[in-house]
This record gives sequence, structure tokens and C-alpha cells, in this order.
Amino acid sequence: MEERLQKFLAEAGIASRRKAEELIAAGRVKVNGKIVTEQGVKINPQKDKVEFDNRLIAVKAEKKVYIMLHKPEGYVTTAKEQFGRPAVLDLIHGVQERIFPVGRLDYDTSGLLLLTNDGDLTYRLTHPSHDVEKTYLAKVYGVPDEADLQKFRRGVTVDGRKTSPAKIRILERDKDLRFSMVEITIHEGRNRQVRKMCEAIKHPVAQLKRVATGELQLGDLPKGKYRHLTEREIKYLKNL
Ligand code: URA
Repeated sequence: MEERLQKFLAEAGIASRRKAEELIAAGRVKVNGKIVTEQGVKINPQKDKVEFDNRLIAVKAEKKVYIMLHKPEGYVTTAKEQFGRPAVLDLIHGVQERIFPVGRLDYDTSGLLLLTNDGDLTYRLTHPSHDVEKTYLAKVYGVPDEADLQKFRRGVTVDGRKTSPAKIRILERDKDLRFSMVEITIHEGRNRQVRKMCEAIKHPVAQLKRVATGELQLGDLPKGKYRHLTEREIKYLKNL
């Protein structure tokens, strides 16, 4: 993220913004080894080397932000998309930091998506060895019977590999039994895993929504909206 040189100097505690402009005009500030005297020059604090009276100014670490988004269907979780489909980052306004989704949700899946600039946390949460539970509400075709549920719970073969044990329970059946609502909890994060597991028991998914990641709950956050995590939630994730 670029910012004005005088703002950078002020934030680094060198001087007030006004005073920083005077220091710049007086030729006491260098950017990448060259004296800058004009005003309004923009720098990238992560890349550019700024010196004041020939002393390098240390860059403050970027503030860490942790966001929960209620992702709507019809958005991709990648930053840039080859087909020009809308991206979840288009829904985040007023966050200066460069944040990224933690893991992914399918284009046609809604629900809880975390975004952060904490690369360390992202790495840990998305690492295959990490078994944080993710809970989904799925509307599936038909009504799975007890044998289907048992099969699902023990693990089914998806892409040639058995899934680890999962939880599933039926919450509601519609009147003509064409659909049912099920709650599913899995630990792994394989590509389209819930959809493929439901296909494996012949009750394909019609709609899918993630409602929890570990103890973090989507709650009544409206679709398309986001909120910053609480201190307690951040601490919980870091301690996982
Ligand atoms: N499982 C899926 O099939 N899709 C998702 O988006 C998440 C989990």
C-alpha cells in the first residue's frame, strides 16, 4: 500500500505531518538513497528505503486485521479471477490492509469466510494437518436414511481416497420428501468435499452454507456483510 512520504514520516514518529514537509523541503529525507525535496511523493513502506538525516527509518509492522465475511453465493474466494466473476474482496470496503481469504469456499457456497493479513495464522489454519472442525448446513436432494448417514459418518470414497469420519444429522425434511436440511461437520478441507461426500451417498447438495469454523459462528451476520473478529475470537484462533 503506497502512502505519502510526510504521512509515513509522521507515523514513524519523526515529526508532525506539517513539520515533516519542512524536513522534506530542507533535503533531510532520502528515498532509496536519493534526496527528495518535492512534496506529495508516494512511497511503499514495505519496499522503499526511507532515511532521515541519513538514518534508516524502520517500518512498523502492518497492523493485523481479522475479518469474518458472510460470503454470498456467486463470489469467488480467489483475489483475481480469469472469468471476471465477482470476488469476495469486492465486498470489503474501508480496510486498508492487504487481506486474503483463509482457505476457500466454492463459488456457489455461502457462509462463514475468514479474511486476514496474518499469513502465519492462514498457513496454520489451512495446513492439512490442522483439523479444525467446519460446520455446514446443506439442503440435499431426498432424505438420507440411516444406512446413508452411517456411511457418511464412517467416511466415503472421494477422488479415490476415503474421507475421515464426519458428522451428519438431519434437521428438517420437506413435506413431499424431495429435500432435507442436514448439518454436516468435517475436519478436512478437500476440494468440494461436502458436495462430493453427499454425491457419494446419492443425496446431492442443492444449497450449501458454512455456519461455523471451530467455535467461530456465523450467527446472524447478514449475507454480504462482514465484521472484525473480537479479541477473544482472535485469541481462540491463535491458540488452536
Ligand atoms: N465443501 C464443499 O463442497 N464446498 C465448499 O465450499 C466447502 C466445503
